[in-house]
Amino acid sequence: MKEVKIGLLGLGNVGKGVWKILDMNREELIKRSGYDIKIGKILVKDINKKRDVDVPKEILTEDFNEILEDDSIEIIVELMGGLEPAVDYMLKGMKRKKHIVTANKMAVATKGNILLETSKKEGVMLYYEGSVAGGIPIIHGLKDNLVANKIEEVIGIINGTTNYILTKMTQDKISFEEALKEAQAKGYAEADPTSDVEAFDAVYKLCILSSLAFDTIVNVNSIYREGITNVKPIDIEYAKEFGYVIKLLGVIKESNGELELRVHPTMVPSAHPLANVNDSFNAIFLKGNAVGDLMLYGRGAGELPTGSAVVGDIVSILRNKEKSSYYPHLGNEEDKKIKDMQEVECEYYIRITVKDKPGVLGEISSIFGKNNVSILSVIQKGKREEQVSLVFITHNTLEGNINKSIEMIKALDDAEKIENIIRIENL
Ligand code: HSE
Repeated sequence: MKEVKIGLLGLGNVGKGVWKILDMNREELIKRSGYDIKIGKILVKDINKKRDVDVPKEILTEDFNEILEDDSIEIIVELMGGLEPAVDYMLKGMKRKKHIVTANKMAVATKGNILLETSKKEGVMLYYEGSVAGGIPIIHGLKDNLVANKIEEVIGIINGTTNYILTKMTQDKISFEEALKEAQAKGYAEADPTSDVEAFDAVYKLCILSSLAFDTIVNVNSIYREGITNVKPIDIEYAKEFGYVIKLLGVIKESNGELELRVHPTMVPSAHPLANVNDSFNAIFLKGNAVGDLMLYGRGAGELPTGSAVVGDIVSILRNKEKSSYYPHLGNEEDKKIKDMQEVECEYYIRITVKDKPGVLGEISSIFGKNNVSILSVIQKGKREEQVSLVFITHNTLEGNINKSIEMIKALDDAEKIENIIRIENL
């Protein structure tokens, strides 16, 4: 039987998941790949650290060169995260003719081009299924199984931590702060939750998905980003009254050769399958011009789910390495124009605190009218109080028109505060 050695960079959650899967599914993996997959060496920060996985100390190293210079190691599996030294190690590995598997969304989203170029130049493979939505096979899905389609839109819940927080806020009627504490206690949210709650994590994943689905290179900075910290229980209550659930969505749509790329809290009709993706689950809903509507649902993080994606990539490399493979190039940054957010069309939920005086509703409605924003419905809550809440739902309109209206409303003496603006996707 053939044996292949891999070098693991990092032995955190996903690294441990890979170790466990290679052990628990060894027989199946031998049958399915034709190889006995052995971990040759593992790069760690501290070889003496106590670990809850039974890895022999002899294969641990603190020196990347021990992996790089070991020619019996054919595949490097990068699970360190962050940009450097992870990207440097991957590039060095490829130059040494080693294939690469990574689950590093930040590296693939921001350095994907150089990584892919180098893999092409060196004739090695680069696989990154674990970088988006953990165990959900969306990368291979887009690259292989859905290759016959023109993709029209991709809409996803691609961050489990924020989905857990929003689910708790909705089901238990608690505040963002309380739900975040629960997410931290469960180990979903990190001590510094910024990357998840401010949607940086989701932006990296959306960047990778948009590049693959639309054969282009997307600059991560061209993606509109808004996190969930301003979503209040009252917004969730109003959403329910209007028949919606609030989710942090990544949205990619193509129209007239332009891409809309945005991540923000969104109201989704409560009957849509995405509205029913709860807790820390992820889901990606897409439309292809041949396949039609498709949704993939599963665990977006965790040692075994992400480990499942990583080990799947190792097997893909083993299956392909003896063939002469074609390594697709993604395209160029100029290939697709990114739509300005002002030009994006949506329906909007707008909650404003106003002074409870005659004529205020009329003034605000007239501002919307002047800016071509048509109102679908309006609710006023609170009566005979100094301040009341006005909630507007608009028809489909340009974001630019909403922004102009909001500037004018802010200038009104009787408008106390624009509390929230949440986009609605009537999927
Ligand atoms: N922190 C991410 C999430 C998982 O909550 O989905 C890793 O990308």
